[in-house]
Amino acid sequence: MKAIVVTDEAAGTAGMTLAERPEPEAAGNDVLVEVHASGFTRDELTWPGTWTDRLGRDRTPSIPGHELAGVVSALGYGTAGLSVGQRVFGLTDWTRDGTLAEYAAVEARNLAPLPGDVDFTVGASLPISGLTAWQGLFEHGRLRAGQSVLVHGAAGGVGSMVTQLAREAGAYIVGTGRSVDREAALEFGAQEFVDLENDALEDVGGVDLVFDVFGGEIQKRSAGLVRPGGMLVSIAGPPEARPADGLAIDFVVESDRAQLGEIVRRVRDGRLRTVIGHVATLDDAVAALNPTERVKGKTIIGVRP
Ligand SMILES: NC(=O)c1ccc[n+]([C@@H]2O[C@H](COP(=O)([O-])OP(=O)(O)OC[C@H]3O[C@@H](n4cnc5c(N)ncnc54)[C@H](OP(=O)(O)O)[C@@H]3O)[C@@H](O)[C@H]2O)c1
Repeated sequence: MKAIVVTDEAAGTAGMTLAERPEPEAAGNDVLVEVHASGFTRDELTWPGTWTDRLGRDRTPSIPGHELAGVVSALGYGTAGLSVGQRVFGLTDWTRDGTLAEYAAVEARNLAPLPGDVDFTVGASLPISGLTAWQGLFEHGRLRAGQSVLVHGAAGGVGSMVTQLAREAGAYIVGTGRSVDREAALEFGAQEFVDLENDALEDVGGVDLVFDVFGGEIQKRSAGLVRPGGMLVSIAGPPEARPADGLAIDFVVESDRAQLGEIVRRVRDGRLRTVIGHVATLDDAVAALNPTERVKGKTIIGVRP
């Protein structure tokens, strides 16, 4: 099969090549998915799981990409709950070959059915940003209606999902970002916007929940805004700062079939919008994932037409 592979950690996305690789086999509880669309996250080439397996053994050449939408083409031994021919989408294991390929072997529990009226490109754009937003707000952040949330990077991949889901859940949203992000953040549902390049973050006053995607100095300053009993939830690694009278937690997104179902239901009925910037073929994936100019929105690789 055709796949994008990486072998050199130092080279980053510039080291990606289109190669011929053996088709993966579905192990126990796996499904083999005929990949129609694939999502890639830039940072994954810095994650250990891209380069080594769980025992720390070199697993290069590895196939990056951990989001997919496609059709189940085979079931492994003992696999239940999905069937051959079914449309699916989801998040794949960090330490296995990924989705920038014609086929991917994935544990069935990591996937959810993709309704027939949702495009594969849309399906592949949802798992990481949608699940990260859902888990940060509702599992880790325990958000309740009426609470206020400071959403960093509110026009970005994760932040735009956080903003939409939190608003729907009845929260008051203060979004942040660059000046150019203001309109987008407000359209996603933020009631206020802080331009981090020109406004004072401290003017926000107190909030119940901070959803941090940046870490560093912005995270430290944000911890000071958390009201007593509130929380700072970060996806940027272990928190360097804690609220004086509240909790700080960081997490790494996990797949969850029920949550994927909640997310795609909202996409179908128009409550949730995903931003796809560019769709390229697998043949053009290396160039598309090494853009010479900034692309707003997620780049999706359409593996099959
Ligand atoms: N822990 C986890 O499970 C997990 C899951 C998903 C993502 N992540 C991480 O979370 C981070 C965000 O992901 P994403 O997909 O949402 O990224 P993204 O789409 O690039 O969104 C980030 C947003 O914040 C803006 N921004 C960046 N730096 C800024 C600054 N200094 N001041 C103001 N605005 C700034 C960006 O604007 P520009 O585009 O103009 O820079 C963009 O609008 C990434 O580091 C990603 O690896 C972690």
